Amino acid sequence: MTILHDPTALNASSTPTHRPRRLRRTAALRRMVEEHRLSVDDLIAPLFVTASEDERTPITSMPGQYRWSVDGLVREATELHTLGIPAIALFPAIPDALKDASASEGLNPDGLYPRAIRAVKAACPGLMVITDVALDPFSSDGHDGLVRDGIVDNDATLAAMTQLAVVQAEAGADVIAPSDMMDGRVRAIRTALDGQGFSSVSILSYAVKYASSFYGPFREALDSAPRQRAGIPTDKKTYQMNPANVREALRECELDVDEGADLLMVKPGLPYLDVIRYLRDRLPTHPLVAYNVSGEYAMLKAAAQNGWLDEKPAVLEALLGFKRAGADLILTYHARAAAEWLAGRA
Ligand code: PBG
Repeated sequence: MTILHDPTALNASSTPTHRPRRLRRTAALRRMVEEHRLSVDDLIAPLFVTASEDERTPITSMPGQYRWSVDGLVREATELHTLGIPAIALFPAIPDALKDASASEGLNPDGLYPRAIRAVKAACPGLMVITDVALDPFSSDGHDGLVRDGIVDNDATLAAMTQLAVVQAEAGADVIAPSDMMDGRVRAIRTALDGQGFSSVSILSYAVKYASSFYGPFREALDSAPRQRAGIPTDKKTYQMNPANVREALRECELDVDEGADLLMVKPGLPYLDVIRYLRDRLPTHPLVAYNVSGEYAMLKAAAQNGWLDEKPAVLEALLGFKRAGADLILTYHARAAAEWLAGRA
């Protein structure tokens, strides 16, 4: 009987000609042939802001993430900037009492969101502030668009969206990020921004946003889930994409490029790395952004907290996966921790 691991059992002809392991022998060799590298420049940190007095309110399903007061937000943003993170994506948690069917609080120039944007830009002018354009944080229906006769009305929503974008640009937003999936909104927003003197404000389109179950913790953070009551669609499937589709992702991107988007996003991230690769291979010109969403964060944090995964290498491996798939930038709740690890501080 041949013992497979006995070296004497190998004759010359079965000695491997090719030995990929040679280039894995030492840490220096592995570093030299490394194909993709995660850098702090790739990271965008999503942050939540609230009108509460408390500096930070924990979000149960996102351990380590908070709803910040405006002061707390400014402190956190300044620290992220010092760590070298180039941008934050800001989301407002609006109290129920200020929500209505037309999301009118979104148009209040003295509302929480514009105040937060102004405060961060005053403290850290060099930190890019990306703002979210969609009605859901302000809507009593919990939808990204206006609900009319039981449906989310595309064209009525466009007008509201352009006004939100202008309010945010006036407050100092560097990048406007429509996350609503209405048809034609990139062109409508571009036209409105240009008309108000904001032609240098960029548009990051959530071009490919799937109707995903991985947004749960985010909707908890903002209390923004579609309201379960008569006359209101109970999910977002008439505007967010079917998770089964990939050709349609290309169509959405082509339309948004044509309408004037500067950057394109795929969301969620880890379950959709194939979509990022598919788009990267077909759209060579525009930066691609991946959103490593709240549910993806919750899964890794839960496993780490249970001692089932080693958090630091697991998170860095997941983030590297986005780069390998072809993403240029990653919106991730792990941004701060990753920046600290990359700087060798933790
Ligand atoms: C809504 C919006 C959502 C997220 C960002 N913007 C949720 C949704 O579409 O219901 C989710 C982000 C995350 O889960 O981290 N405009």
